[in-house]
Amino acid sequence: MTTTINGILIGPVQDFPEGEIRPATMPDGTNLAVYNVGGTIYATADLCTHGEASLSEEGILTGNIVECPWHFGTFDVTSGAPTGMPCTVPLKTFPVKVIEDSVYVEF
Ligand code: FES
Repeated sequence: MTTTINGILIGPVQDFPEGEIRPATMPDGTNLAVYNVGGTIYATADLCTHGEASLSEEGILTGNIVECPWHFGTFDVTSGAPTGMPCTVPLKTFPVKVIEDSVYVEF
């Protein structure tokens, strides 16, 4: 059986441990924050939409919510929706596929 993959390989699934945030970079230089929430992997733009803090470097993941430590704004990483002030602009999200223990981001 042939599997068609429309995405960029960002690494093996073990590089994205549960409850953690890791960085990834797309071919055009776009930086992502990649989250493992209960075994499911999600990807968003790396920069907080409030003040451009790096969520992969400085964000704190609790369940499906990432908190930005600059001003304590929060987002739902599964949808990108802002969930806590001062963040009001959603994070861009990127679809993620895990195929045979490899993680791909559609781009
Ligand atoms: S920079 Fe993220 S909440 Fe202000």
